Amino acid sequence: MKNLQSYIQENKDRFLNELIELLKIPSVSADSAYKKDVLKMAEAVQLSLKNAGCDVVEICETDGYPIVYGEKIIDKSLPTVLVYGHYDVQPADPLELWTSPPFEPVIKNTELHPNGAVFARGACDDKGQMYMHVKAMEFMTNTNQLPCNVKFMIEGEEEVGSVNLSKFVKKNQEKLKNDVILISDTGMIANDVPSITTGLRGLSYVEVEVTGPNRDLHSGLYGGAVANPINILTKMIASLHDENNHITIPGFYDKVENLSIEERAEMAKAPFSLENYKKALDIDVVYGEKGFSTNERNSIRPTLDVNGIWGGYIGEGAKTVIASKAYAKISMRLVPHQDWQEITALFKNHFESIALAGVKVKVTPHHGGQGYVTPIDNIGYQAASKAYQETFGKKPIPQRSGGSIPIVALFEQELKSKTILMGFGLDSDAIHSPNEHFGVFNYLKGIETIPYFYKYFSELSK
Ligand code: BES
Ligand code: MN
Ligand code: MN
Repeated sequence: MKNLQSYIQENKDRFLNELIELLKIPSVSADSAYKKDVLKMAEAVQLSLKNAGCDVVEICETDGYPIVYGEKIIDKSLPTVLVYGHYDVQPADPLELWTSPPFEPVIKNTELHPNGAVFARGACDDKGQMYMHVKAMEFMTNTNQLPCNVKFMIEGEEEVGSVNLSKFVKKNQEKLKNDVILISDTGMIANDVPSITTGLRGLSYVEVEVTGPNRDLHSGLYGGAVANPINILTKMIASLHDENNHITIPGFYDKVENLSIEERAEMAKAPFSLENYKKALDIDVVYGEKGFSTNERNSIRPTLDVNGIWGGYIGEGAKTVIASKAYAKISMRLVPHQDWQEITALFKNHFESIALAGVKVKVTPHHGGQGYVTPIDNIGYQAASKAYQETFGKKPIPQRSGGSIPIVALFEQELKSKTILMGFGLDSDAIHSPNEHFGVFNYLKGIETIPYFYKYFSELSK
């Protein structure tokens, strides 16, 4: 592509500074205290799309946070790429574990990012990755090299389940019509091992409540004589896995896709060091379902995990009490063909059925979504693969991820198009954790690689 390298070299400081400004806006969708900031972020995205050369840019109101929509249609007979991303971020807590404040971005070097990484909540997930697309668009329009039509759809509720985006997509099929959907909201293996994400897991998220006596009790006067909801809840949770770490919910695995030996052998070829993996997490051994490797456990196998558990006294010192109630938040990561609503129902029935004597159990479903697999025998994947070869000098490895972007399955269902997941983050970038960061190398590589996707996708569409 003409002038791509030099354009990035000349503008890289501005690209970084613009991202830093966006990262200063605490657009936390889960916490209503940040409502103004989330709305401010939507406006900033709108402005950036205008500046990048979109002809139409709208803030589309929903029952929740708005969707920013932009487009540049150069010729109706050319293919259309729809870019999706999200401008909301996860809450930043626990704040005390950040080495610099989450909404005061700074560039620091790390072992894996010797050329610096921007530290801030949302740096990688997803502001940095979303903004790569805006800057790639800027390059293509400024240098007259946009080869096809582009639509941008950037939402503000991804981290809380994309409920309003689902409605928007169902209502606006004509407006969102496209030939391929492009998303950078995932990761790659390493900076010298490019990969393209070909799978996302589905999700079912539930909350459980166990109630024992009608009030908190003195643990001496009543202890041993009534069911303690916390004791019971932990027993019930423990029973959800067997000694091989299989999930015990009847029917849970019925629809799980079993990969062939060949497919599993192909997966095992991806470079991976178990030693480094353990070292990075300070663990002596890995843990998980018997019969599967670490990479299989976190991508092609379903899981059940407690994300939070509470009840009773957790303040300073000791209080002798038997709580009336105990709670847990539980997520199940699902694989293709498992239906999240079916799994939610299976969980609910099972968990209620194993309620031990002396307690009442309530299960409240939160949100969920289907998993997704991108086939690699289509021009979208091939265009992405050629783009990486151009900028990394290596063929990217297809790799399934353990994370979830539930809206991707809905895109396929409603818009009938495939999604290509060109993620540039690293697993170690600490998304959703304290000290989230995004490598400067990764950010600029993303901006460089995206225009080639447009080029090859347009060529292959002919
Ligand atoms: N960008 C992530 C998902 C992701 C990250 C997928 C890395 C693959 C690799 C997304 O923002 C996210 O956090 N999704 C949530 C689900 C959502 C419904 C809250 C998740 O995976 O927990
Ligand atoms: Mn994300
Ligand atoms: Mn996220």
